Parts: sequence; C-alpha cells; structure tokens
Amino acid sequence: MRKPIIGGNWKMNRGTPKEAKEMLDSLIPLVKDFHSVDIVISAPFTVLTTMHDILKDTNIKLGAQNMYFQEKGAYTGEISPLFLKNIGVEYVILGHSERRDIFNESDAMVNEKLKMALSMDLKPIVCIGEHLEEREAGKAKKIIENQFNETFKNLTKEDMLNVIIAYEPIWAIGTGKTATPEQAEEIHVFIRDLLIKKFDEETSKSIRIQYGGSINPDNAEDLFNKKNIDGGLVGGASLQADSLSQIIKAANSTFM
Ligand code: PGA
Repeated sequence: MRKPIIGGNWKMNRGTPKEAKEMLDSLIPLVKDFHSVDIVISAPFTVLTTMHDILKDTNIKLGAQNMYFQEKGAYTGEISPLFLKNIGVEYVILGHSERRDIFNESDAMVNEKLKMALSMDLKPIVCIGEHLEEREAGKAKKIIENQFNETFKNLTKEDMLNVIIAYEPIWAIGTGKTATPEQAEEIHVFIRDLLIKKFDEETSKSIRIQYGGSINPDNAEDLFNKKNIDGGLVGGASLQADSLSQIIKAANSTFM
C-alpha cells in the first residue's frame, strides 16, 4: 500500500519569516501525531532557511516550488538545486501549471529540471493536468498522455520510483471547483496505465499520485478514499493551519 503524501503549496504567499513561523507554530502541534501520511510544505525561497530550523525534529518536510536545471552560472534570477540541497530542502515541485502557463515552461524544460533534481537526490513532485477547454473538447487524456511522455522522457525505472506525480486539472486550481472523486480517480487510473506502458506494473503500483485543485477540509476525505489517489497538493487551504491540518488528518486516516 502507498503512504499518502500531502503537500502544501504556499505559492507566492507567506514569504516573510514572521508569516512562515506563525503558520508553522500553529500547524506543528496539530499534526504531530499523524504518522500515516508524509507531510511537505513548499514555500517561497525567502523563508526556506527559517523553515528548516523550525521544522527540524518535526514530521513536516521542507519543499521548494521550483528550481533551475543547471548547478551554477550566469542565470540571473534562477535558483540552483545545489543551493536548495545545501539549506536542507528535500522536495521540489516541478512543472506546476502556473509555471507552465505564466512562465512558459515547456515539457522539455520540466524534463531537464526533473533529471537534475533526481541527480541531486531532491524528491520531485511533478504536476500534470489539462485546461478546461481541453477537457470540454474531450481531449483531457490525450493532453495528459503527451505531458506524461515528454515530461518523463529518458527516465529509468529507478528514477521514476523517486518521483511523485500530482494530477492537477487546471480548471480546478484556485477556482473552488474541485474535480469529483470519480473524475480524479479516472485520470489517476489512466496515469497508472501510462506507467505500466512506459515502465511496468511494479512501478505503476509503487508511485504516489496526488490530486490537486481546490482541496478543502470538506472534500478531502472523499478524494483520498479513492484507491488510486495518494493524498493531495493543496494551495489555498494550505495557508491556514486549521484547514491544512484537517486535510492531513483525512489523508492519515485513509492509511490506518
Ligand atoms: P488550490 O491550488 O488548492 O488553491 O486549488 C492547488 C495547487 O495549485 O497546487
């Protein structure tokens, strides 16, 4: 059985040490007894060092939201995976739809980043998902298959086993419009089939696939009860300790 994983994605919020500390001081005691779920918070670069100090000796792991695919050099404004490793970051979100859509990250670039993250032993959370028009045109699976093939190009089975996939339908992100558990499960099963085709049954069974898009304390349990949904990537509801802890509790109880 796969251990669920909840990722909080703070996006460009809670970026000062004071904001991060306030949130974590509330969250840590609320989730300290949940051991049947992995918990990661991906925060802005400006608070990662502060968070590393606060999170040591807790069951919450530290994540970044992006990185570049080179170790160092003339890349003004970019962040090296070496820097992230050096300050104790363990996870990194790659290919979030906001990176793809606003900052023009291509599948090929996400693939470069992914290979680099794996070579540095950073644990990648790789996002894939379709736009509303694509879903309405009946093309969701085709889009996801293309993203899957390009994003996971030239990866070995051993590489792939270290990847966490996040299925995030773009129409559900920050919109309050969650995919139904059935809609999400259908795509998760589809992704598992792609994993069998490209790798094998064992890989498909082992990899954790999170759902992301307007998860909240009211819809979390029904989503996580689906057989192929292994937790979630949470944006808006990860900004408050109260809502995030309820979502973590829901994931924890599905694994017990
Ligand atoms: P949301 O964001 O929970 O606010 O919809 C999810 C995400 O972008 O990862």
